[in-house]
Amino acid sequence: MKVEFYGHVRQYHNIKSEIDQNIQTVLESSQYVMGPMLKRLEGELAAYHGTKYAVGVGNGTDAIWLSLMALGIGPGDEVITHPNTFFATAEAIWIAGATAVFVDCDPQTKCIDPAKIEAAITSKTKAIIPVHLYGQCADMKAITEIAKKHKLHVIEDNAQAIGAYGDGFKIGELSDATTVSFIIQKNLGTFGDGGALVTNNEKIDSTIRKLRNHGSNARNVHSYGFNSRLDDLHAGILSAKLRHIDAWNDSRRKWAARYTAGLKGAKSFTLPQERKNYRHVFHLYVIETKKPEQRDGFVKFLNDNGVDAKTHYSIAIHKQAGYPWGKGARIAGSVANAERNAASCVSLPMFPELTEQEVDYVVAKCMEWDKAQN
Ligand SMILES: Cc1ncc(COP(=O)(O)O)c(C=O)c1O
Repeated sequence: MKVEFYGHVRQYHNIKSEIDQNIQTVLESSQYVMGPMLKRLEGELAAYHGTKYAVGVGNGTDAIWLSLMALGIGPGDEVITHPNTFFATAEAIWIAGATAVFVDCDPQTKCIDPAKIEAAITSKTKAIIPVHLYGQCADMKAITEIAKKHKLHVIEDNAQAIGAYGDGFKIGELSDATTVSFIIQKNLGTFGDGGALVTNNEKIDSTIRKLRNHGSNARNVHSYGFNSRLDDLHAGILSAKLRHIDAWNDSRRKWAARYTAGLKGAKSFTLPQERKNYRHVFHLYVIETKKPEQRDGFVKFLNDNGVDAKTHYSIAIHKQAGYPWGKGARIAGSVANAERNAASCVSLPMFPELTEQEVDYVVAKCMEWDKAQN
């Protein structure tokens, strides 16, 4: 049996008529850039998040650095995040010209550990970027409390958790801006690249609307800016998909529960944990080998047996060759939990269109490997 990591084509086939119809609408409209479909999607995204504004941009990375820029954060400023996220979180800080400051992650959730943030704050610190890693929210209540105390901005990197929520808070509710990635592999993905940010801050919204469009919101009138727009074809695809996101997340949770039930007796790896009263949407289902040195062999065993397991992310950002490439960077305290996560993580196939047979096959192969280790 072969179990793929993603189910993009299955998903397309399931809602083909809805996607095709929106593509057709855009093609017939003769407005492909900054047209009515983008406007429609932006309205739908804001409504979905319960925010006043949503702005479509070229990708999730741009959404982060454009948000930093809109908040006036750049050279000489420090921005706190954690090193076991996708590279783009730190990359965006560097693109904005700021210094990335890395603190450790929480050993259970792998999201930033709020208890490590205060010791990393200096007079140069301007913002915190928590990442809702793997589909589970960072502890936004604790993070915003620290941010308020030290007058810092918060940008939520929500490339991985659309539809998740925390204990008593929604994504987008407690921060200055929340960024989203629509690259195909995300839980809301288009057939290519795309991104957006949602915010309740009118200034961030209006600034990024200009910055993304060559510094312009009126024909022939420009200020300094960029080209980072979300095309209407992608907006149409995403508008069709957004209607299904809650049901798809429910399916991810169902498969996660099936994995957890099947794998709970394993001795050589640990399972992901959902925090009480949180909704984890399992963008990724990540287990960790107890012995980091066993991880690569485990992934190879699964791959050799037809299971497309992957690693997210097997080299922490500060361990990448050439780090920090002449850019500003600082590691604040021990980042041992993040390093351990990088060394031991294994992502199992996870997408809404999986089948029971596929999940059970993955479970069987994981348990076969586990048995051989003990
Ligand atoms: C946590 C995180 N941040 C940022 C990004 C960047 O998004 P994009 O690839 O759309 O630029 C991604 C995904 O690619 C991500 O997983």
